[in-house]
Amino acid sequence: MTLDKIDDMPISDFMVDAADVAVDATPVDVDEFRSVMRQLAGCVTVITTESNGGLYGLTVTAICSVCATPPTILIAVDKSSRTHPHIDRKGAFAVNILADGQKHIAEHFASKGDDQFATIPHVVNAKGVPLIEGAAAQLHCEVQDRISIGTHTLFVAHIVGTGIQDSTPLIYHNAKYGLVTHI
Ligand SMILES: Cc1cc2nc3c(=O)[nH]c(=O)nc-3n(C[C@H](O)[C@H](O)[C@H](O)COP(=O)(O)O)c2cc1C
Repeated sequence: MTLDKIDDMPISDFMVDAADVAVDATPVDVDEFRSVMRQLAGCVTVITTESNGGLYGLTVTAICSVCATPPTILIAVDKSSRTHPHIDRKGAFAVNILADGQKHIAEHFASKGDDQFATIPHVVNAKGVPLIEGAAAQLHCEVQDRISIGTHTLFVAHIVGTGIQDSTPLIYHNAKYGLVTHI
């Protein structure tokens, strides 16, 4: 079809019924969904925050750049996690992108120990939010929006500060930690 012919066609010719695009109405099996998502390799972060004088953090791979103008990201945090209410209350958090030697920190913040920062070297930023020493990079974030999706909340946040060190990031793929190897 030539472009001239497309110009002559009524817009209704391009519209499709939603039913026609539903490839398969069968609900996707949750385990199948998880198997597919395990193929998505990504960086490992620890989301940290402060609330009422306490320091909190959890390991998160569900992080996404949203846009650069203004610099904005989103994270997906389980509503049942201990850290969730503290991010919500504080309205601020840090993203610590772990370096390749920090697998033990990823495991630490994916567990349910008490006083999570007692053994983790850190400093705090101007808002009192902890920053993990030795991380590959950091983002200082202020929550702009909260979107509830099923079991998780998407926290959409503006970036108000950054930090970057000369190290390579820790990678998570297929339920295993790995290192960046150059192609
Ligand atoms: C590699 C990895 C990635 C994870 N990614 C997420 C995530 O994106 N969002 C989330 O809510 N939990 C994620 N978790 C689970 C939390 O880290 C875990 O439930 C943690 O114990 C919650 O801590 P808290 O209850 O002290 O906040 C991940 C765990 C691991 C090991």
